[in-house]
Amino acid sequence: MSVVRKKFVCQNCGYESIQWLGKCPSCGSWNTFSEEIEKKTKTHQISSRKHEVKSIFALNNEKLKIDSIRIKTGIKEFDRVLGGGLIQGSIVLIAGDPGIGKSTLVLQAVSNIESKVIYVTGEESLEQISLRASRLKIKNENLFILPETNLNLILEIFEKEAPSVVVIDSIQTIYRDELDGSPGTIGQIRECTAQLMEFAKKYNVAVIIIGHITKDGLIAGPKALEHIVDTVIQFSGEKNYSFRILRAIKNRFGSTNEIGIFEMQENGLKEVENPSQIFLAEREYGSSGSVVTSIIEGTRPILVEVQALVTPSGYGMAQRVTTGFDLRRLSILLAVIEKRLNYKMSQNNVFLNIAGGVEIDEPAADLAVCSAIISSIKDIPADSLTCVVGEVGLGGEIRGISNLEKRIQEANKLGFKEIVTPVQKINIKFSDLPIKIVQVKTLKEAIKEILE
Ligand code: TYD
Ligand code: MG
Repeated sequence: MSVVRKKFVCQNCGYESIQWLGKCPSCGSWNTFSEEIEKKTKTHQISSRKHEVKSIFALNNEKLKIDSIRIKTGIKEFDRVLGGGLIQGSIVLIAGDPGIGKSTLVLQAVSNIESKVIYVTGEESLEQISLRASRLKIKNENLFILPETNLNLILEIFEKEAPSVVVIDSIQTIYRDELDGSPGTIGQIRECTAQLMEFAKKYNVAVIIIGHITKDGLIAGPKALEHIVDTVIQFSGEKNYSFRILRAIKNRFGSTNEIGIFEMQENGLKEVENPSQIFLAEREYGSSGSVVTSIIEGTRPILVEVQALVTPSGYGMAQRVTTGFDLRRLSILLAVIEKRLNYKMSQNNVFLNIAGGVEIDEPAADLAVCSAIISSIKDIPADSLTCVVGEVGLGGEIRGISNLEKRIQEANKLGFKEIVTPVQKINIKFSDLPIKIVQVKTLKEAIKEILE
């Protein structure tokens, strides 16, 4: 006999209630409750929830060493972000906007694995997948495609075929028929993921789940899913640029500091080993408003170009528009420039762009932003072989930043002649490097060095 229970679930955070609510008491969003019916029947249940531990284990058992159970995908950037490879018995969630390249990335990653892989496709037909595989020149005899969306049937096949890695593309298309909510609702997503987790643990399989991000930038079925899985990896990038960044936002088996950079090309994603060179490739030398800075993405330094355009606003309201940089941070920097260097910023439009679709979220780029703005105001180009790093304080002072050594090394490696930095201790001796290090105390001093 089945028991039918009705409940209302917030589609944003998974909060459950027995009645419909306009506003979610848990996450505060409006109109997110939808009705779900839960039928509890005895069908395919993988695990009996009995208490099963029958023995004790030595902690320094060789078999429990993480690296012995990692499966390498052979895509270096991907393995690095995972912390060294896929872990058997764990779930990785790959999240990103539709069309960003998640299916391509995962298909490429599993195509190098030497043990049996099953790729479940709920979004694309067998023909579409094989078309993609031939475009990516994938030939792997251990890779099997399963076009199916019913989780019970999928799990039956998994149990029969005993793969070592499985891919679910995407979690939004998979459903369990014990639950009446349509695929993609939070109830279905959460329940399916929990089932997959049980499967992963029981059979020691590495599970990769692909999930779309909702419009608000949340991973659909967001927080609820994040606790269940072991690793959450975000695949992002600007649609109009070909760069894609892979970033771990949660990792039970590795650090969340690493990022992987890819470029989407005609025949799939290519790893980018020297990102700075690519981000600076289209730079126009000798034009005003352009300054190069060194940011830290994950644990790697990357050189990027900051572009500013300042124009008189006439009688209209001065506009501030940024891409890849925080608008509030820009307002603060403009106030500092106005107060400390006496430029009338309120009568100027300021447009700021970080070239290549890169997002900057560290204060170390402040000085480059200020210099680019002033370079545009004065219409004096900055030296194209000078790199600029440093945080700008409200008093117009230049403050110390993290990882200065790495930033200097990267600028040196790419042939920059000079780097302008805060006055701070440098832990490596750079006297033997060709790059000249100029330490500055104030914004005024820095501008003098960069533009005069
Ligand atoms: P896809 O992996 O389908 O994205 P997702 O699974 O995240 O929805 O990739 C979609 C885009 O990638 C599509 O617009 C076409 C482009 N693409 C290439 O540019 N080169 C390629 O080799 C492939 C396979 C896709
Ligand atoms: Mg896809």
